[in-house]
Amino acid sequence: MNSRLIAVSLRSLKVQNVSVVGSGLMGAGIAQVAAQTGHNVVLNDLNDAALGKAQKGIEKSLGRVAKKMGDEGAKFIEDTMSRITFTTSVEETAANADLVVEAIVENLAVKQKLFADLEAGASAKCILATNTSSLPVSAIGANLKDTTRFGGLHFFNPVPMMKLLEVIKANDTSDEVFQAMLDWGKAMNKTTVKCIDTPGFIVNRLLVPYLMEAIRLVERGHATKEDVDIAMKLGAGHPMGPLQLADYVGLDTCKFILDGWHQEYPDEPLFNPVETLNKLNEEGKIGMKSGEGFYSYKKK
Ligand code: NAI
Repeated sequence: MNSRLIAVSLRSLKVQNVSVVGSGLMGAGIAQVAAQTGHNVVLNDLNDAALGKAQKGIEKSLGRVAKKMGDEGAKFIEDTMSRITFTTSVEETAANADLVVEAIVENLAVKQKLFADLEAGASAKCILATNTSSLPVSAIGANLKDTTRFGGLHFFNPVPMMKLLEVIKANDTSDEVFQAMLDWGKAMNKTTVKCIDTPGFIVNRLLVPYLMEAIRLVERGHATKEDVDIAMKLGAGHPMGPLQLADYVGLDTCKFILDGWHQEYPDEPLFNPVETLNKLNEEGKIGMKSGEGFYSYKKK
């Protein structure tokens, strides 16, 4: 294929219609930003209750942006919301999409089944991507008929605030699809970084072991959790200390990621189980969302 033909095929993968499956924390954020940046969005979940919650959450989040816009604010919210269609139908989700981003429950079999259903209803050019944090991207797309159209788009929470998007090249992702995913990241006003399909990609591969080392340091009695957090904020310039950050991410999520990696790479000491993390999970103290983790977030 000559370079002119490649340019033509790259242009043909431009993303305008975006479908997002899973309207939870991440999916709602991805749908919001896609609509804010002018895309036509279809947001899918299993039931109307989940979609209703997502709709309210997006409206609230847009309201915060609109506050700074003065008279234009109300129109901005209306225009943005008018670009989002809410549905429980997988067929409708796949039908006109240039790109589908999956942000559902972190379960390999459930994700594989969803992608089979999506591929059956999508056009041959539609790009399929997963937002998984901890599962191997290539395994999620392994059963697709066309694995070259599949890759990873890993956003960060909260999606409207966090500027980074990790774009993951799975084993078979074609160059055209990878380039289109990078271009779409820019169109979403994100800064993109490229990574191959490796556990944790860039951010979590460095962050999770760092958080675990901080817990281990406290476990050994070498410093208090308060001092570890102060030290990393004032000494390393981090906006949050590692124990605070673990609480924010969720100690259930930290454990889920660590356990998965430990199972896959039992010889890697950085991925070894952490006693305090397991104990807090057993006690249901999973961080900010449960009201308690390393710190208490209960209103006094
Ligand atoms: P969440 O639990 O807030 O939302 C998941 C949503 O998916 C729920 O609304 C659920 O009803 C829906 N869902 C489940 N199965 C479905 C199906 N078959 N079809 C349609 N909808 C379905 O989860 P969250 O935190 O938004 O995570 C979603 C994905 O994003 C996971 O793969 C996770 O690893 C990844 N991720 C999470 C981050 C985080 O900070 N929470 C950061 C980056 C990625």
